[in-house]
Amino acid sequence: MKQWAKDRVVYQIYPRSFQDSNGDGIGDLPGILQRLPELKDLGVGIIWLSPVYPSPNADNGYDISDYCAINPEYGTMQDMEALLEKARELDIRILMDLVINHTSDEHPWFQKSRAREAGYEDYYIWRPARPDGGLPNNWTSFFAQDCWEYDQVRGEYYLHLFAKKQPDLNYANPRVLQEVEEIMRFWLDKGVAGFRCDVINVLYKTSLEDGEKRPFLRGLEHYLTQPGNHEILQKLHKDVLSQYDCFTVGETVFVTPKQGRELTDEARGELDTVFSFEHMEADQYLVKWLKRKFSVRRFGAALEKWQNALEWNTNYLENHDQPRSVSRFADDGAYWEQSAKMLCTMLLSLRGTPFIYQGEEIGMTNFDYSSIDQLDDVESKNVDALLREKHLPQWLRWKIIRPTSRDNARTPMQWDASANAGFTTGTPWLAVNRNYRRINVEAQRNDPFSVRSYYKEMIRIRSLSQTLRYGSFKLLEATGRLLVYERKYEGRHALVLLNFSARKVRAGYAGQVVIASSGRENYDGVLLPYEGIILNEGVKI
Ligand code: GLC
Repeated sequence: MKQWAKDRVVYQIYPRSFQDSNGDGIGDLPGILQRLPELKDLGVGIIWLSPVYPSPNADNGYDISDYCAINPEYGTMQDMEALLEKARELDIRILMDLVINHTSDEHPWFQKSRAREAGYEDYYIWRPARPDGGLPNNWTSFFAQDCWEYDQVRGEYYLHLFAKKQPDLNYANPRVLQEVEEIMRFWLDKGVAGFRCDVINVLYKTSLEDGEKRPFLRGLEHYLTQPGNHEILQKLHKDVLSQYDCFTVGETVFVTPKQGRELTDEARGELDTVFSFEHMEADQYLVKWLKRKFSVRRFGAALEKWQNALEWNTNYLENHDQPRSVSRFADDGAYWEQSAKMLCTMLLSLRGTPFIYQGEEIGMTNFDYSSIDQLDDVESKNVDALLREKHLPQWLRWKIIRPTSRDNARTPMQWDASANAGFTTGTPWLAVNRNYRRINVEAQRNDPFSVRSYYKEMIRIRSLSQTLRYGSFKLLEATGRLLVYERKYEGRHALVLLNFSARKVRAGYAGQVVIASSGRENYDGVLLPYEGIILNEGVKI
């Protein structure tokens, strides 16, 4: 793995919600370009761009209809080239989102495949109905539906692990892999620095037999991190990735530490890093719809397991699929600011490459909507439909969807206190959170005590500290409220103390304060509510 990818901090942009430049209510590439200096100032070294390709937007760009072009809503290929150029000037590298488990059903490959055009018949996973007329198997999709859709044109069903407008590609067909290689070369030759690889461990379906009986995600055992999947990744690495100075991070659903090690083993040559999900279970049972109370103990256990499992980690608390961390793991009310800074202390002091999601650096919170009609997310809508089928009343459906909907993270970026938070002069595609007059970039940029300034300082401290970047990780405490860990490198060490509660908590350590989210310079053994502190050469007292 490239050293630059270890040393830099990644910032994820969800283009649709970042910055609109032409008043159509949708973020775009010129908008991103205009904000690059802002990100440079924060200390960002890599940007991950969520998909910017042409897409019917059934899943906001994760359903791609042309992999080597730009969605006209976002601009042109010239805009993309200008963005790459400006980023190069500022020494910021750009990762593209590689979504290759599925395409849009409007992609020409699918159109040709459904028409059985020669050469394209097997680009997707087609099956006839069962002899009894039933669906080809009993699998269920990630988006709370069956995962087979009947196509009138072809007279067969196609498999879709996600929305029905996202047919799965058939990786048993070597031509599909060749197409993917060409797409990757196209972007790497344009100067992108690598890929975030969407649901990259479900590409290969070993068999299409019925899955074990389970209420959700039936069929998983037939396609999750299969040997065939490792072979695909090895081929992409050997043929393409190894030829470029680039970095990959795989979104690997339900990945185990052993699988994570295999996927990132340099000798095998597959991916550089993976996103694991276990810490996201600190407030849920396996899937997001089954919420439970956030537990520091569970959170700490997941961190301990993963921080030590892999040679190198990726660390994140938010992305475009997860609710806002300050609302989820801490307090977005009375202790909003403290909470955001405490979480920042953690994110930037774990071992691995940190990923900051747009708006996280100013402490953006979950949306303030009051009904499902205000949502756009296909996942939320499917879940609502499923729960309605099960006769759950509306208030209960909303209670389940509200804290979990992906739209929590997708509300427009809050730039300033002007109309629509400075995101657009038009009507935003998704409503802006009304707290934008209080929480926005402009209000925080020049305030040395703001959440954003704290992020900037933590990024700077990380960049100066080998201990924080390369040190080993050791969990010392994960109790009801307190999380404490040690980072150690070449005989030096730092302690990170985090209070996940609104009460003062005794944490009996002493040492020199490197940074405290409260701004204090001395530590007396008691953490303030939602305070985070890093101690140099800290010791237990
Ligand atoms: C990943 C993406 C998510 C998308 C899904 C299907 O999980 O992060 O946004 O809906 O893959 O592409």
